[in-house]
Amino acid sequence: MDLKDKVAIITGASSGIGRAVARNLNEVGVKFILTGRRENHLTELKDELAHAAILTGDISQDGMPQSLLAAALDTFGRCDIVFNNAGIIKAGSIDDIDIEDMCYMVRVNVEAAFRMAYVAVKHFKSTGSGYLLNTSSVLGTKVRPTAGAYAGTKFAIEALTEALRLELAKTNIGVSCVEPGLVQTDLHREWPVPPAQSLNIPRPLQPEDIARVVRFILEQPDHVRLPRILAVPSDQEL
Ligand SMILES: NC(=O)c1ccc[n+]([C@@H]2O[C@H](COP(=O)([O-])OP(=O)(O)OC[C@H]3O[C@@H](n4cnc5c(N)ncnc54)[C@H](OP(=O)(O)O)[C@@H]3O)[C@@H](O)[C@H]2O)c1
Repeated sequence: MDLKDKVAIITGASSGIGRAVARNLNEVGVKFILTGRRENHLTELKDELAHAAILTGDISQDGMPQSLLAAALDTFGRCDIVFNNAGIIKAGSIDDIDIEDMCYMVRVNVEAAFRMAYVAVKHFKSTGSGYLLNTSSVLGTKVRPTAGAYAGTKFAIEALTEALRLELAKTNIGVSCVEPGLVQTDLHREWPVPPAQSLNIPRPLQPEDIARVVRFILEQPDHVRLPRILAVPSDQEL
């Protein structure tokens, strides 16, 4: 895809991978609708980018995916790319995990992501082209004790990604997912011991590493699809 003047919705744009993807795609002329809950972070990012608007809110709130699409159409007149990336992690042992927190994670990582995905592909079908890129995880194909629920949310993303890709074969609509290993972001900010330490990964990926992968997927010629890319730190053993 030639990315110049394309319009992208980025969920989870207020930090980490989403923010890095916005910065990277800004270099090639993409315009953005940015979303997340932390408005100050979104405003700072918007000010860095050439063409961007923000819509602050909880992605799991009713109607948010539709509002994001409407914002793209109202602001820029089109929507070509949805980077469906917002997510949280709630993990813990059988004795420690908070079931309500876990279920909120399922609403964000699965329900909201599925709603966003269908809003995106329905729109792309109506225009005849577009790209949906979902953020999965290394835990989208493997599991770890204490992280079963999080892995389950990412297995769900993998299943939806692949089914939509098959359904949209022979069209100009692409669907892929990126599967990061450990990335240094705000995702684990509530963890008492950072995973880089507990998992012995002294050099985790940086968000910019995933941003390059995302751009690589989007810049493929029309006849090439990269349904999934796993990107892990060289120190990661999983
Ligand atoms: N970091 C890793 O090691 C890693 C590995 C594999 C996959 N991933 C996946 O990568 C994606 C991005 O995470 P990240 O690592 O970049 O972490 P991050 O820095 O914490 O970014 C997560 C983003 O999601 C947004 N978000 C979370 N809950 C939301 C909600 N309810 N409503 C709206 N926005 C919400 C956050 O914004 P607000 O907090 O401002 O709402 C933030 O912008 C996630 O799907 C995560 O599962 C991360």
